[in-house]
This record gives sequence, C-alpha cells and structure tokens, in this order.
Amino acid sequence: MNQSSLPIVEALQQHAEAEPDSFHVPGHKNGVVQPAYAREILSASRYDQTELPGLDDLHDPCGVIASAQQLTADIYGSRSAFFLIGGSTAGNLIMILAALQEGDVVFVQRDTHKSVINGLRLVKAQPVFLEPEYDETSGLSLGLSIHSVQRAFHSYPETAALIVNRPGYYGWTSPLRAIIGEAKKNGALVLVDEAHGAHFPAGDVFPDSAVSLGADLVVHSAHKTLPALTMTGYLHVGRSSRIKAAEVQEAAAMVESSSPSYLLLASLDAARKYLYDLIQKDDAALQEQLKQTKQAVLQAGALEERIPPEHVRADPLKIVARAPQGHTGWALQRYLEEEHVFIELADEAHVVFFLSFQPLSTKTLQRIERGAARLRSENPAVYSGAGARSLPFSGMQKLPADWYQAGRGETETTTLEDAEQKQAAVDIIPYPPGVPLFLKGETLTGERLDFLLKRLEAGGSVQGVRQSENGQWLTSTVKRKEAR
Ligand SMILES: Cc1ncc(COP(=O)(O)O)c(C=O)c1O
Repeated sequence: MNQSSLPIVEALQQHAEAEPDSFHVPGHKNGVVQPAYAREILSASRYDQTELPGLDDLHDPCGVIASAQQLTADIYGSRSAFFLIGGSTAGNLIMILAALQEGDVVFVQRDTHKSVINGLRLVKAQPVFLEPEYDETSGLSLGLSIHSVQRAFHSYPETAALIVNRPGYYGWTSPLRAIIGEAKKNGALVLVDEAHGAHFPAGDVFPDSAVSLGADLVVHSAHKTLPALTMTGYLHVGRSSRIKAAEVQEAAAMVESSSPSYLLLASLDAARKYLYDLIQKDDAALQEQLKQTKQAVLQAGALEERIPPEHVRADPLKIVARAPQGHTGWALQRYLEEEHVFIELADEAHVVFFLSFQPLSTKTLQRIERGAARLRSENPAVYSGAGARSLPFSGMQKLPADWYQAGRGETETTTLEDAEQKQAAVDIIPYPPGVPLFLKGETLTGERLDFLLKRLEAGGSVQGVRQSENGQWLTSTVKRKEAR
C-alpha cells in the first residue's frame, strides 16, 4: 500500500481549492461566517467539512475514509481499523458493545479507565475485577500477571472476554503474549485498551503493540502520543479475531456523532503517515534521541527516574520521575506550572512527563530547572507520606448481577467524614488517571476510603468529590431509608 498517500487530507485540500459555495452544514459555510473574536482559533474551518461527494461517510465508508482506514490497518497489522471521533472513550464503548452481550462474564483489570466501566454498564455485562500486580518499590501498577489470569479462568471458566489496560498511564507495559494465549485457550476474547500505545509500531525501542500480539480488539488514542487532534483514536480488529468488522461498524454508529469532524479525520490520516515516517527512521537513532531528551529533563530538574522491574517494559516516550525527597509530585507539578511547564500527571510520589519525537529547547529545560529548584528552596522537605500504592485494589472481585444499576435512588450530599459505610451515588475517580476508586453503589469504606482522604489532603484532584466553602470534602451518597 502507498503509505505516503493521505486520502482524507488530499480530498479536503482538493475540495477547498475550488472555493466551493456552501448551502449545507456546518453553519460557518467553509469558514466564511466567522466571528472576528474567534477567527484565529477557528482558522481551519475551511476544511471542517461534511459528507459531500468525494469526502465519504465515516458510518458507511467506501471512499477516502475507507482508504485511510485500510492504510491504518496495514501499518498496525490489523484486519480492519476504524477511525474514532470521541477518543479512546468512544473506542472502549464501541469495543465492548461490539464484543459483549448482556450477562457475559468478563474479566476486567481493576485499574481500568472509567470508559471501560461505562461500556460494561451499557451492555450490562458481569465484570469480575482482577487485581493488577504492583511494583514493590514505587507502589505503581504493573498491569495483569499471567498467574492472576490463570487463577481467574480456573474460577470462572465460562468467561467471555478479558479486558486489559496496557500500558498504564505511566507507560509501563506488562507482557501480554502469554495472557492472550491463556484467554484463547479458554475461548475468551481479548480486548485491549491501549490508549497510550498508538506509537508502539514506530520501532523496536517501543513495546509490542497488542495488535501484533494477537488481541481481538485494540483501542488507541491517536491524540495521546501521535500528533493528532484531541478526540481522535483508532480501533483495530485483530487479524485472527472472530469479531466481524460489521459488528464494530454497527457499534461505532451507535456511539459516534453522525456528523464527525473532518478536521479530526484528517488529523488521523496525517498521524498514520507520521507513524509511517517514524518507522522509516533508524531505530538506534530514535532510541538515542529519546534517551538524550529524557536525561536532559531529569538533569534539569535534578530528578530521579522510576524504573519498572525487568519483566515490564517502560515506554521511552514517557518519563516517570520521583518527586524530590520530602515533597509530593503535586507540589512539583504546581511549581512547574508556575514556570509554564505543564505535565501530564502527578501523584503523591511522582511526576510523569509525556515526551514527543521532537527534541526539547534550552528554554524548556531552564523552566524545568527553575521550577524544581524553587520547590526545593522555598519549601522545607517535610512530606513523609510518599511511596504508598498508587491505587489500592486487591483480590478478585465479582460484582453483583445488578451492579450497573447500583447507587440509583434518592441521594444526599455527605461530608467524606460522615460518608463511611454509606453507598456512593457517583463514581469517585482520581483524575488523571481516570480509574474509578469507588463505583457508584459501592460502600465507602476501608483502605480505599483512607486512600481517597489522603489523596485529597495532599492536593490530588478527584472527580465526584468537591470542597465546600469551609474546606470540607463533600460527595453524593445514597440516602438511607428511614427505619419505620
Ligand atoms: C487508559 C485510558 N483509556 C482510555 C482513556 C480515554 O481516552 P480519550 O481521552 O482518548 O477518550 C484514557 C484517558 O486518559 C486512558 O488513560
């Protein structure tokens, strides 16, 4: 296939060249109707088209979108690829709707993104949560181990599918080949949320993509690690999967807009070509460039890198650094932000930098240096709580059959202090990484509640909890019925 071609980008350019008159949606009429106050931001509107002749239809592709998707499948080695408008959030919903049916037992890595949980709610599947393995030194999740998957199939041999989150937010990528083998042996589908791994085929320096390892469905956020616009992603059907492309197309039509943005589609087309160009580069040179960038950042901040144990591969496009001794990752994040350096993630003990394939400027490195130095010089190194598990989940847990409707009913606002033993009426989600700590309907108690309080105290952000004017943490719980 001609990977240098850009079917959607070229079709949009060709359409715009003739300076067409628009009597169709969108209302900006090829960018002609443009409020002056937002002109610069909306400057690409000329290419923000709709399903016109020559521009194909995402929901029934047979022209330029079909060609662009085929090029994408070719480069990743999948049987079919689908362009996602709505990110991996849409991808996970589509993946689950296409693969599962009501009541299906499904193994789910517990530290999964909230979109997976929402997909399972929509389809009314029956999740069995599997605890990830944790790194002893950092407390970070290492993903699923083959042993926990084997144990799970022993307990629930009727399981229809396994949902894996790999790599995690920190770029740590657990081995998957044996896990896929175990699932296949048991007749189960393997669905992989590889939101953070769209760049993996770029070279040997990166972990293997779940597509090449034989997963049935794989979701990528193109916008996370490739230069694609926000809300874009790819969904792949594996070469040997029994899932039919038509089933995925049908689910995609349920989840995605009937007017998908052509700017987003064009950026997916361009990101695939960018990946192709990366693949042409010398592997050793790419590796060396990323290594140097990483060292420069660590050196600038006088930071120490966190390295996973040997059996887990770290994505070289990410830097997981320890917060300086006596400070939290969130504190370092705030100081970096004051220097106009915005990182992807901080937790109690770490900061995570997402890199690109572009070298960094001296100005950027100086900002990192200043931010980290100011944190150290302006604050006593007193914080001693660092090093706890990133998210406290343990054991295998089968949810009740009606889990997807738990937590409904009359609700009340409760302080977290009074919320103990009450049922959450919302999902409580540290964000990022977007992994629900408590699902709506779960009882607020135990190690996870302690973790939540500690995280809030230390400055972490959490969806489903807000602070009152007098500083109390509030959430929504299910109102208990009055005793008669
Ligand atoms: C593991 C994982 N899956 C899915 C998503 C959702 O991705 P998107 O933002 O592309 O919708 C995220 C977002 O951060 C994520 O980290």
